[in-house]
Order: sequence, then C-alpha cells, then structure tokens
Amino acid sequence: MVEKIKVYGGQVINGTIQISGAKNSALPLLAASILSDDGLSLKNVPPLSDIKTMLTLLNKLGIESNITKDNDFSISVNNKTDSINTFTAPYDIVKKMRASILVLGPLLARFGQCRVSLPGGCAIGVRPIDLHLKGLEALGADIELKDGYVCAQAKMGLKGGEFEFPIVTVTGTENLMMAATLANGYTVLKNVAKEPEIVDLANCLNKMGAKITGQGTSEIHIKGVTRLNNTTYTVLPDRIEAGTYAIAAGITRGNLDLIGGDFRSLLTCFITKMEEIGLVFEDIPNGIRVYSSGKINPCHIETKPFPGFPTDLQAQTMSLLCLATGESTVEENIWENRFMHVAELIRMGANISISGHKAIIKGVSSLIGAPVMATDLRASFSLVLAGLAAKGNTIVDRVYHLDRGYCCVEKKLANCGVKIDRI
Ligand code: EPZ
Repeated sequence: MVEKIKVYGGQVINGTIQISGAKNSALPLLAASILSDDGLSLKNVPPLSDIKTMLTLLNKLGIESNITKDNDFSISVNNKTDSINTFTAPYDIVKKMRASILVLGPLLARFGQCRVSLPGGCAIGVRPIDLHLKGLEALGADIELKDGYVCAQAKMGLKGGEFEFPIVTVTGTENLMMAATLANGYTVLKNVAKEPEIVDLANCLNKMGAKITGQGTSEIHIKGVTRLNNTTYTVLPDRIEAGTYAIAAGITRGNLDLIGGDFRSLLTCFITKMEEIGLVFEDIPNGIRVYSSGKINPCHIETKPFPGFPTDLQAQTMSLLCLATGESTVEENIWENRFMHVAELIRMGANISISGHKAIIKGVSSLIGAPVMATDLRASFSLVLAGLAAKGNTIVDRVYHLDRGYCCVEKKLANCGVKIDRI
C-alpha cells in the first residue's frame, strides 16, 4: 500500500530538531564491517529504510546485526562478522538501493571474490559503476560482467596500485578506499571525493587498524594491512538532513535550532548561499540556529562535488526559490535527470522553465497546495517544504522515498509545531 502524506499549508516552523546520523556515512560504514575479522559497532545510526536494506544485505552475507534503539532518532548496530559464508549481493536487494554496491570492495578485499548485482539506474540517472570496476582492476582484480552481475576475483589478494578517477565519485572513492585497506602494498587514489562522509569512513577504518592519510583532500594514500579489527564508531551527523530543515525555517519564515553537529563546517557553501537568499545563521552549542530574515532573495545555484553546493540539497533549495522576489537559476551538474520535482512544483503554481541542466525559477507570491508525486528521495522533501508554505493542503504520494532518507519526519516536525499526516 503506497502511503501518502498530507501537508497542511500556511504553517510556521519553530523549535528544536535533533539531527540524526548521516545516511550516506552509515551506509559505507555498515559495508566496512565486512572488512573486520571480529565485528564492528556503530553508534548514532539513523533508523531509515535504506539502513534496513543494507542490514538485510549484510545478513544475507552471513553477518549478524545486533540492533539497540538509543532514542527515537538513532540506533546502535553491533555487527558480528566472523561467520560470513556467501559473497553474493542479489539483484532483488541491490535494485532497491544503489548503495548496496558498497559491499563490492570489502568482499573482494577480505575474501578475494564476490558476485554483486549491477545496481541498475534510478530516477535521477543511469548511475553507472564503471569507475568502481576500473579502480578495482587497478588493484589487480579480475572483473567479469555475467547475467547482470559483477563477478570479481582476486585469488592472490588485491595489490596496492595507483588510480586516478576521471570524475569525482563518492561511492567510487569509498569502494576503492575500503578495498585498498587490505591490499598488499601501497595505494594512491587521485581526484577522489572530499565529502565529510569520506573522511568519516576513513577515520573509522583507521580506528579499525587501517593506514589511510589524505582523506578530505583530492588524494588519498592507503598502506595495506593484513587485517582490520573491531572498534566502536559514532556516525557523523547528517548535513543533508540539517540543510533540509534549515530550508524549512526559510520557506515558512520560522526559527529552528538544529542540534547534533558542527553544521557550520559541514555546510559552508550551502550556508553562504542561504544567507544570500535571506536566511540568518547563528552558532549555538553542538548545532546551529537558523531563522528567516523575512526576505527570500533570488539566487544562482550550481551543484558541485564537496565543498561545492550539494546536489542532495538542490531540490529543496528550488522550492525555496519558487517564492523568491525575482528570477533564480539552479544548475544541476552532478546528475543528468534530477529535475523531476520541477513538474510537481509547477502543479503547485511555481513558475519554472528548464533548458538543459539549468532551471530558471521566476519567483511567485505564493504556491497553492495540490496532489503531487515524490520521484526521488530529496525531491520528496522539496514537495513537503513547498506544501508547508503553500495556501491550502498538499498530498505527497509515494512517500516511501521520504522514509529512505529522513527518519521520524512527522515527529521532528510536530516537535516544532508543524502538522503533517500520513494517510
Ligand atoms: C552519492 O551517490 C550519494 N549516495 C548521493 O546521494 C549523492 O547525490 C552523490 O553521491 C553525489 O554527491 C550515497 O552516498 C549513498 P557519484 P553516488 O558516484 O556515489 C557518475 C541521496 O540523496 N559516475 O558521486 O552514487 C555518476 O553518474 C543520494 O542520498 C560514473 O559515471 O554518486 C554521477 O553523474 C542520491 N561512473 C557522478 O559520477 C561511476 O563509476 C557522481 O556520482 C560512478 C559515478
């Protein structure tokens, strides 16, 4: 049964939101537990459907996960990894979540073999993994594509090597970095992603006994070791969740304390752009305060790899710019098809036109609630944001997209005086 969310219009958000652990850090960290001979414990894991999917996949490989609920917004996961008995990541799981591809590097590095289903595309684009495979071949892996599966072997183990990514890829960097931790010898990865989630993964791997330097720069060096051990690691807070709620304060002209991390450093470029638009940010202990100056100025956005403007905040920002006092542009440079929210926003009265990978948004005085459809994880929240500011009510369909990346949305919003109902 596909659930929908009813968003009541004309609301103002005011209060405090506890930001959960980062989905895009917890997913590679869960995959990294495969590398350890004696388990891995993670804290501040967000209770999301994507996390459940990854835990199901790890369980299929023979990993036992002991989960404890720490509070409404976070769980701890203790993975036992001494009984992995199969090395196949099946299509029915991988097709649900592309990030399943993150088990490829760890399985190959620890067991010298694996069969991982090709992820298939998703709404925002083809999302190939050619660079993951080329990188693993540079570490001595034999890769064969058969019946829609990547069949990878490294009978003599992976060997350290050098690989330069032709384009920056987040999970490509993560797969290669994890694989290189157990390779024989020294690996240099160039033109790697610099996202905070990459740094989080490298810091956890180093706590497990890996020897990684350069994380957060465009060149990562890894000295292979023979084994990785158990450790307890706390997942970085989710900068994309924090940015999404900051926009909720801007679009409803409200005021929010976002608690759970140093968002000023995790969202530098985003905050600069939001200040240009008219949001005000103040540092508070273990978080950041954000409120609207009462204005929504037009602005020009270009998504880029970190430290540039995050593509995962593009759709949400576009909802805000629909109500700006002038013409804005949004250029999506990472994904070839991440404008599906545009048609839905137009149904709500937005004035947007697209030419190539640039959207031109002419601000309107108000949006009107309407039945709309979520098409991907971040687009789903952009429609909720538009609905909060609109006149009348909005019904967002296919709300499973929302649950993939945002935990306890109703509860977090209700704590700030905002009502939405799941129907
Ligand atoms: C990660 O996806 C994130 N997912 C995405 O977040 C995010 O949008 C993306 O990075 C960019 O920041 C996770 O971390 C789980 P890429 P990823 O490989 O790694 C091309 C969300 O909303 N490419 O950095 O899959 C690719 O087509 C999700 O949480 C190749 O051509 O993205 C894209 O154009 C959505 N060949 C560009 O690189 C490859 O082998 C960047 O993709 C790999 C990528």
